[in-house]
Amino acid sequence: MTSRQILVTAALPYANGHIHIGHLVEYLQTDIWVRFQKLRGNRCLYICADDTHGTAIMLRARQEGRSEEELIAEMQQAHERDFGGFDIEFDNYGSTNSPENRELCGEFWAAFRKAGLVAERDVTQLFDPDAGTFLADRFVKGTCPRCKSTDQYGDNCDSCGATYSPSDLIDPVSTVSGATPEVRSSPHLFVQIEQLHGFLEEWTQSGEHLQDEVANYLKGHFLHEPLRDWDISRPAPYFGFEIPDSPGNYWYVWFDAPIGYMASSRQWCERHGEKFDDWWRNEQTEIHHFIGKDITYFHTLFWPAMLKTAGFNLPTKVHIHGFLTVGGEKMSKSKGTFVRAATYLKHLDPAYLRYYFASKLGPRLDDLDLNLDEFVAKVNADLVGKVVNLASRSAKFVKDVGLSAEYPDDGGLFAEAAASGEAIAADYENCDYNSAMRRIMALADRANKYVEDAEPWKLRKDPERQQELQDVCTVTLNLFRQLAVYLSPVLPRLAVQTGELLGRPIESWSETGQPLVGTPVNKFTHMLTRVEEKQVQAMIEESKEEAAADAAASQYNDGPEALENEPLADECTFDDFMKVDMRVARVIEASEVEDSNKLLQLKLSLGGDMTRNVFAGIKGVYTPEQLLGQLVICCANLAPRKMRFGVSEGMVLAAGPGGKDIFVLSPDEGAKPGQRVH
Ligand code: 2FM
Ligand code: ZN
Repeated sequence: MTSRQILVTAALPYANGHIHIGHLVEYLQTDIWVRFQKLRGNRCLYICADDTHGTAIMLRARQEGRSEEELIAEMQQAHERDFGGFDIEFDNYGSTNSPENRELCGEFWAAFRKAGLVAERDVTQLFDPDAGTFLADRFVKGTCPRCKSTDQYGDNCDSCGATYSPSDLIDPVSTVSGATPEVRSSPHLFVQIEQLHGFLEEWTQSGEHLQDEVANYLKGHFLHEPLRDWDISRPAPYFGFEIPDSPGNYWYVWFDAPIGYMASSRQWCERHGEKFDDWWRNEQTEIHHFIGKDITYFHTLFWPAMLKTAGFNLPTKVHIHGFLTVGGEKMSKSKGTFVRAATYLKHLDPAYLRYYFASKLGPRLDDLDLNLDEFVAKVNADLVGKVVNLASRSAKFVKDVGLSAEYPDDGGLFAEAAASGEAIAADYENCDYNSAMRRIMALADRANKYVEDAEPWKLRKDPERQQELQDVCTVTLNLFRQLAVYLSPVLPRLAVQTGELLGRPIESWSETGQPLVGTPVNKFTHMLTRVEEKQVQAMIEESKEEAAADAAASQYNDGPEALENEPLADECTFDDFMKVDMRVARVIEASEVEDSNKLLQLKLSLGGDMTRNVFAGIKGVYTPEQLLGQLVICCANLAPRKMRFGVSEGMVLAAGPGGKDIFVLSPDEGAKPGQRVH
């Protein structure tokens, strides 16, 4: 088979939040696919970058009193560290804020202009006079013009479902500064994508590039009517690239983000002395994008339209996956299921999640559920119980003699597993990892039955049967090695360990076809430990703590989306509420917590000699000096909670939109420490 040339991308993560387990579904799905392609002997690049532009980054940098460049550099470092921790291996990891990206954006833009696709018209938007910026829809709240529900976001009403323009909101308020926004008009540039309707119809409906459900969705939701012009510019101030022929206007983040795929590949080409056009203007190159279903529109309509206009390769395939749920629900900060990649890694081996996600991922757009009990059970039963077990039960018996000189009769097991290779490969190719894992585990079951029947631990005790023992272990280790090859896109560390054990690195899929014989076997060293329920619980507890500290620290930390999507906690009855004992308390000691950029440690007096030690996530909002001697409201009967820095015995109540605007102080007008508040 001739080798294919494949360029693969995963969506560029935003630079305004940390990587969490929800993101990892995609980066792992893609990493597995790329590793599989490489193992099959194809030339394959895995390209990614940080998505750095837009209002959210600008506002957050401003709030933190530093430059956008400093902020995005720090986030990129964190992202790359998290990806590395999960063995997600990119061939190039770039940034959309790179010179390569600016230049390519200019190329696309010139092509749009030349094709006569750009139009200019005024757009009326809400402007925050205090922050000095136009407000994206999600930064405005107000009363729905239709049903009059309060506290609705700028473009649609949660209560009655109406969609409207933010300037139609009654009593609008900027969530950035709290100011009343003004209506202002400014010129915007639009791409008239309708001119490419015919092309998009054909490309999306050809049956080659998209999953059927995606093609049908596009047809039913967008392509059945004229496509709306795409507003591609944003007026200053905006963190991004200024449009060369339209000073004071910037390309909208969604214009330069996908171009970032190309800019990052260009960096790779420059590093490896390859021609960029061999990858992006070459019919022989396949381009595969992996994305989540929420960004379908950008990748299946705008992006092909952009590539077509600028004369680049069109995507060979856009692979779209669903979202992650945990225990059947949206990830939740308060329930501790919104787990950051870094937090996961403090408690658990990345191989567990790589395997668990693989075992659940199929080629469709269904959401993927992480069930924590199933996670523990599956990892232990499959990886430890069925796979690693084969090596740990046999390698030690042959460490002095190595593998038999000839491959023994194994009743056809090795040949059978070799013959399954093409079906497993087809599953990987089609992103049906769930099916691949089932096939591999069925092979593991047969191998385990073989060992149980052959009982090498009994043979070991019989000096007459040492040849038989070596043969049984030779078969077992070869069956194990086949599994390690098939699993290596998912479990790259296990593949390396297997290579070390048997003195032959795993480099190609075809290694499943030929057994190893007559070679030494190294000392078996630990490969994978069982996962314990309590490790998972510790991860969830730590995630809860982080969420509590974050909530008070910054409204922009994980992006406004994360806050909007937070599901409500379980209902609380009136009696539950009355159990919360809220008291006026005086801050009698206040200090910074070393190693935490969020927490202050407070000692609160509740009158008499009743005190509480409390960790509050308000560092950077208040200094210890500002709080000392002041009154706050405190939940005084909260069960003590062990945190990394000590025990917290209460909670200080706060109000405000977040950021620097968090208010914890109570007026000192006759209130007495210890006084109950409700
Ligand atoms: O949805 C997101 O997280 C975007 N940052 C993805 C961008 S993908 C590509 F187009 F750059
Ligand atoms: Zn409404």
